[in-house]
Amino acid sequence: MAQFTLEELPVLPLAETFALTAAYNADSFPDKVNLGQGVYRDEACRPWVLPSVRAAEEVLHNQNANHEYLPITGDKQFNDKARELMFSPKLAKNPNIRTVQTVAGTGANNLAALFCAHHIKPKNVFISDPTWDNHYLIWKTAGPEITQKLYPYYNASARSFDFDGMIAALEAGEENDVVVLHPCAHNPTGFDPSQEQWKKIAEVIGRKRLFVVFDSAYQGFASGDPDADAWAIRYFYSTFFGALSDSQTNPPTGMLVCQSFSKNFGLYGERIGALHLISPQSVAAEGAYTHLIRLIRAVISCPSLFGARVVNTILSDADLTAQWGEDVKTMALRIQGVRASLRAELEKINIKGDWSHIEQQIGMFSYTGLSKAQVERLKDVHHIYMLGNGRMSLSGLNESNVGYVARAIKDVVDH
Ligand code: LMR
Repeated sequence: MAQFTLEELPVLPLAETFALTAAYNADSFPDKVNLGQGVYRDEACRPWVLPSVRAAEEVLHNQNANHEYLPITGDKQFNDKARELMFSPKLAKNPNIRTVQTVAGTGANNLAALFCAHHIKPKNVFISDPTWDNHYLIWKTAGPEITQKLYPYYNASARSFDFDGMIAALEAGEENDVVVLHPCAHNPTGFDPSQEQWKKIAEVIGRKRLFVVFDSAYQGFASGDPDADAWAIRYFYSTFFGALSDSQTNPPTGMLVCQSFSKNFGLYGERIGALHLISPQSVAAEGAYTHLIRLIRAVISCPSLFGARVVNTILSDADLTAQWGEDVKTMALRIQGVRASLRAELEKINIKGDWSHIEQQIGMFSYTGLSKAQVERLKDVHHIYMLGNGRMSLSGLNESNVGYVARAIKDVVDH
């Protein structure tokens, strides 16, 4: 048998968002602009610690807490609060939603994929085209035997959500196939289905008896209203898994909801998230929950403390929760303002084409429609960094650089 040597492994490129951040940091050009990684920046393009988070840090500082292990499932109070935020306090009481703490959204997605690969064993996983690039990698590493089917999501010529393409692709799903959905602020396109479209998507998924994985990374950040941003998830839950719907014909076979606190609490580096396992009311899923716990034990043993303490401190206190509500509005409104400014600047300088999509999209990103070559030129000539697929992280824009960025975009469009 041929012997394996480490040399056989090819050198891989760094994940694009992290490579871009590194390249931006290494660039000495004074007017460089970072529109790459999806991280919120304030008007002066500085990282922003949410006032609610600062206040929670004060509370925690005075608590003199110890550093013991959490349970494998995480901090119970945090899990309860996370579930209430995602599903509403009323629905969160239902015993068919079981929660574990995770290592941010990536950890939740990874655990969801591992759980599906080990126990659901789908033939296919449906992932949106395009999507956050890590979805492909997570499913490839957690479930190499699962075929990735890409469902159309974006209509490039109309610059809009490809509803018909998505529905047609899901119609080809087989029972227990997994479908990964973005509930709000789709990354990277910024186009979300309308409520009517969600209802149709749910109908197909139920009829085909698929297994749903929601990846919620932007609750509150998208519209400024955490309840509005959770609408699709709560709709799926109430339609298929809520108490009154147990006799529902054709429910999906189950649902996992990945919840990240990176963006909406600005806790990027603290790696805090949750995963919710939802079972049909008629299914005793205690065993499934223990299998989730076993996977956590294998991968991280138990989750980390600090982020859970911060989120729990905020969501357990009415004043801090209200402050957090203001904080997400501040972020969402600034991004909406920046969208309007960029579009206005582009139109002021008579750029070719229609740029109204910048304002139609929602969340952290604009899927600009710029080509890979145009994005390259933005970086090489103008020191403006964004993803090769044309995704721009809008929070890197402010009143002082938006004109410069607009002129640079006009240059690459005209070039
Ligand atoms: C992004 O999409 O830019 C962020 O979620 C950061 C990442 O991990 O890619």
